[in-house]
Amino acid sequence: MIANRLIAHRGCAQLAPENTLGAMRLTQRLGIDWVEIDANLVGDGTVVIFHDDELSRLSKDQGRLMSLTYADLAHVDVGSHFSAEYSAERIPTLDEMLVFLSQHQFGLNLEIKRYEHFSAEQIVEPSIRALEQNWQAFDRLIISSFDTEILQLIQQRKPEWPLGQLWEALPDNWQSIAESLGAVSIHLDYSQLTTDQARAIKQAGYDLYVYTVNDPNAAKCLFEMGVDGIFTDNPTLFD
Ligand code: G3P
Ligand code: MG
Repeated sequence: MIANRLIAHRGCAQLAPENTLGAMRLTQRLGIDWVEIDANLVGDGTVVIFHDDELSRLSKDQGRLMSLTYADLAHVDVGSHFSAEYSAERIPTLDEMLVFLSQHQFGLNLEIKRYEHFSAEQIVEPSIRALEQNWQAFDRLIISSFDTEILQLIQQRKPEWPLGQLWEALPDNWQSIAESLGAVSIHLDYSQLTTDQARAIKQAGYDLYVYTVNDPNAAKCLFEMGVDGIFTDNPTLFD
């Protein structure tokens, strides 16, 4: 069954406006119950679900998240760039998104972003506060980041939380980093993954997830290599 190995990337980013509640509803209608979303920081310390460090790609508004407050963002339309039917979509807070996803029995991969305008501590502390409420409600949960410092801070505070280290390409010292974090999974750009790397990761006992796969032939090869799951913008490609 392939559906349980598909992770809706930003909530099916090809089919609905990424990282919105509307995208999560669509994901659920498609029968996909595992999503990846991006946690990001606003200037007043609110953690929101939004990929970029500024607004312009996904709205008509402009501005850097760190120079805005959540009140500034509350009106920002992040659906119309995708289609008029999504014009009511706003940037969700992490709290709102966690409530929605846990109530609808999703598995969650929360990717925590780190842009240069804020420190690891600044995003980790409010993210932990939000997740503390409901992390046990998720059947499947992985907290991932490209930023190892973010994962180290979470490990220190919450050693029982499952962590995934993200890289574009697997570095030579991957195993010592993964071991020191007590990571459960490795997340990589699939276009840079080799068969030997996949074998080594699996032999070392880690789950292996790759992004962003929108090609069924590539997915078939990746599963044959031992990949456990793929992040995709469009799960309907894999019917
Ligand atoms: O978590 C996998 C993937 O989402 C990482 O890259 O830029 O799409 O957040 P990005
Ligand atoms: Mg992501």
